[in-house]
Amino acid sequence: MDLDAKARDILRRNDRGGHTVPTASLYPFQWNWDSAFTALGFATFDLDRAWRELESLAEGTWDNGMWPHILFRHDDPDYFPGPSVWRAGAAIPSSGITQPPVAAIAARRVFERDPALGLPRLRGIFARLAAWHAWFHRDRRGPSGETLVTHPWESGRDNAPDWDAALDRVPVEKLAAYVRRDTAHVDAQMRPTSAEYDRYLALLAWGRTAGWDTGRIAAEGPFAVADPGMTFVLIRAERDLLALAEAVGDAREAARIAARLDEAETAAAALWVDEAGAAGAYCARDLRTGRRAMAVTSAAFLAWFAGLADAPRLQRLADTLGHVLDAAAHAVPSLDPHDPRFEPKRYWRGPIWAIVNWMIAHGLAEAGQTALAARVRIDTRRLIASAGFREYFDPLSGEGAGGRAFSWTAAVWLDWASPSAEG
Ligand code: GLC
Repeated sequence: MDLDAKARDILRRNDRGGHTVPTASLYPFQWNWDSAFTALGFATFDLDRAWRELESLAEGTWDNGMWPHILFRHDDPDYFPGPSVWRAGAAIPSSGITQPPVAAIAARRVFERDPALGLPRLRGIFARLAAWHAWFHRDRRGPSGETLVTHPWESGRDNAPDWDAALDRVPVEKLAAYVRRDTAHVDAQMRPTSAEYDRYLALLAWGRTAGWDTGRIAAEGPFAVADPGMTFVLIRAERDLLALAEAVGDAREAARIAARLDEAETAAAALWVDEAGAAGAYCARDLRTGRRAMAVTSAAFLAWFAGLADAPRLQRLADTLGHVLDAAAHAVPSLDPHDPRFEPKRYWRGPIWAIVNWMIAHGLAEAGQTALAARVRIDTRRLIASAGFREYFDPLSGEGAGGRAFSWTAAVWLDWASPSAEG
């Protein structure tokens, strides 16, 4: 079977009837941003199914507008923490936090493949997409308009060094005993540590006690960090939602989104750190202490994807990216290999993620950084072709790691990394 056929086969096999799982056993439910990326893969061969993926995600919308990070349509004893631990959700049991809002970005791309076919489908989910973005603005907004996360899982970059200092302050004394399930599926060396896991669960317990009042959790909870990844993805998603608002003819919503976008440059500037990396970078900031995480993660390189106009800083960011890539055989490591905390196989502390490469390269290409964009694409192609549709990849050896037959890696292949996606 050629790689395109294999990728399509993975999406079909991870299809649970209208929604996909990231991969069997390790992640047996519908994850938010995984699902949005997966729609891009389906769109290359089955547009109806691509829309269905986005619609199924929208079915989980909370009354306050939030789209949760996991939808539990059933329980699964093989996964922890499942629905009985979270005790959240409205129409569908869910987790109590969100994930990066890739859905509007994916919806625009799927829509533009066939606007006539897509318009009624877009109309069906548009109000819920807009409600989610408004929720971000209300309940996840930092002091300068940056987007904050209330749990490392919310960022989608679970164990990035961005959270280390803020996590250290999360109290774990009251945590009840629990058994991890993730390390039964994949090597513990590739997963977050048990100290990190304790804090993830302590944060979950705090949110559950707060009745999943998402505004209160952001304002008073033990963890609130302004996240460059979430900030840049949301800015990009707002631009795409604005285009979709115009497509459905909703001028009032378009005006609201445009007003929020006026803050984009201020929000990004508030995350900039001159001293980070070789020439400066966008870094996370702990909103409880004001301290910045001095780590150059791949989230910083989503600034182009956000469509920022700050040419001097973006030039410096390109220099920092060049320095990061000098230390890696493959682009783009999730943490600068020069950082002493870099670990090439541990999840978000070094490995390459195909979806992040997809976003970084699209941003670079749109900003006219064509050589860098091409490098990221070719590297992604080579990694998948040689290591398979793995969850993530070692930036030094190129080996695949984590889960196998991964939906978002297959989707990124079909939509962009495959030679057949060229042009
Ligand atoms: C891990 C990743 C997260 C992803 C999930 C399912 O938790 O860190 O980004 O959504 O797995 O693939």
